[in-house]
Amino acid sequence: VCRGRSGGAVGAAMSVFVTRRIPAEGLRVLSQASGCRVQQWDSEEPVPRAELLSRVAGTRGLLCLLSDRIDREVLDAAGPDLKVISTMSVGFDHLALDEIKKRGIRVGYTPDVLTDATAELSVALLLSACRRLPEAAEQVRSGGWTTWKPLWMCGYGLSDSTVGIIGLGRIGQAVARRLKPFGVKKFLYTGSGPKPENAAEFGAEFVPLTRLAEESDFVVVTCALTPATQGMCNKDFFSRMKKTSVFVNTSRGTVVNQEDLYNALSQGQIAAAGLDVTTPEPLPTDHPLLSLKNCVILPHIGSATYATRSTMAVLAANNLLAGLRGEPMPHELKL
Ligand code: NDP
Ligand code: DGY
Repeated sequence: VCRGRSGGAVGAAMSVFVTRRIPAEGLRVLSQASGCRVQQWDSEEPVPRAELLSRVAGTRGLLCLLSDRIDREVLDAAGPDLKVISTMSVGFDHLALDEIKKRGIRVGYTPDVLTDATAELSVALLLSACRRLPEAAEQVRSGGWTTWKPLWMCGYGLSDSTVGIIGLGRIGQAVARRLKPFGVKKFLYTGSGPKPENAAEFGAEFVPLTRLAEESDFVVVTCALTPATQGMCNKDFFSRMKKTSVFVNTSRGTVVNQEDLYNALSQGQIAAAGLDVTTPEPLPTDHPLLSLKNCVILPHIGSATYATRSTMAVLAANNLLAGLRGEPMPHELKL
């Protein structure tokens, strides 16, 4: 379904296309903006590519999601009127930034407002994987729980552990802040260079990726997906990890080589993994990773609290409007 909405004086100058049903608060911001004509793909499911290409034609503003690949084809289909792209996400790996920059299009995104929710989910996923929560809960349902057994359903705890964070950015720091009170002994981190201002609070040590793999009891991936991070957690990486270590990824699926992860998990090279992001998304239900008891997989729900999604939608709408009005955006991605 594609519906048009209008508010105030309708003008071509403010025609925008919203690629999905988003929280009502965000759509309201657009609908109530003077001179803004809103077209929306009003569905829980992604807009089909052909529809996207046709709906975007002649629009000035595009509010999109991380599941919309905004590449040269979309930009060509949109034509020269497209001035602003606002993504309802902090990740922007789905946007062809070189092409976007060449065309002088401004980009808005949603950092900060989802940091707490995503860090919270990262901790939940880590604890689920290291203490085997889905596996244990399944035993209760299936009758596998026969008595209290000293050697049954044991996992690994955070007390006295070393935690390695790949990408000590906004979310990475928020994860470390939440894990510290669990009694973590040492934090390691890696990235494009040392960030003493980010690391000081945790006394975190900047190390090369190889050392982080070798020394961490828990590895948490919270970096952005870039050409440098794509496939970074691969066979070599997992083979350096301890057999008792747990791997968690809440960044993007393609940071991980999933075949290598599958081998590491199934051959006991590492203890367990928790993934909020996969390649592809959704992960096919017959994917080998789903056959493993020591792999907890979630459907990309890092930022999925009602409040956070509502705030993201409002921020994305305000970014779009500010860009269309030629004003500073609340959060503009500097290209
Ligand atoms: P930030 O920009 O604050 O942090 C990104 C981090 O990535 C930086 O610390 C950066 O380190 C690091 N990084 C960049 N290159 C490398 C590299 N080669 N090796 C290791 N680290 C690197 O972003 P956020 O913390 O706000 O978000 C991070 C990512 O999390 C997003 O890009 C998105 O993909 C994902 N995300 C997932 C969610 C989910 O639902 N699962 C929700 C929200 C975000 P440096 O500064 O040293 O370059
Ligand atoms: C993002 O914002 O990049 C997340 O993946 C979803 O909130």
